[in-house]
Amino acid sequence: MQTLRITHYGEPILTQKGEAIEQFDDNLRNLADQMLHTMYEANGIGLAAQQIDQAKRMCVVDVLFEDGPPSFNYKLDGRVPPADLFMPMALVNPEIKSFGEKTEPYEEGCLSFPDIRGDVIRPTEIVVEYQDLDGAPHSLECDGILARCIQHEIDHLDGVLFIDRMDHKTLGTIKTVVKKLKKQTLKKMSSEK
Ligand code: NI
Repeated sequence: MQTLRITHYGEPILTQKGEAIEQFDDNLRNLADQMLHTMYEANGIGLAAQQIDQAKRMCVVDVLFEDGPPSFNYKLDGRVPPADLFMPMALVNPEIKSFGEKTEPYEEGCLSFPDIRGDVIRPTEIVVEYQDLDGAPHSLECDGILARCIQHEIDHLDGVLFIDRMDHKTLGTIKTVVKKLKKQTLKKMSSEK
């Protein structure tokens, strides 16, 4: 399986909105497989199309990285199937339909920002509608790490990055390394031209 190159902060694709996916074919399934493979190789729990240099509305998620029962609550299409039946997930054309009122901070990382982490405040519960790789629509209600990860990935599909969601104080603590990363990325891009 091919490991795809993960785009880094400073590349314009990361601020682009993804185009809706209309073709549910083998190409899409292969892309999802390659994205999952790339995500696992990088020890990530989520990856969006922009992070493999494609402005498409699809992301992959697998938050079952711990042994034992899942640490989050969920309801998929009104039912509670075992989480490993629908995880790893590919979310095609996902839209968050509602957010819970409660918010909390959590230290996030992002494969497009290697070794950079920072607190992001987000709602703890969401309802997300998406299509699977066959184009079938689903509704997922969830909280915990699953809700956190899906919000982070859907932000990518809208060209929004986790640093855009950090408060000034948090951003202040990582500003220098973020600037350094951008500089490195731009240097690399110009040397490859
Ligand atoms: Ni990310």
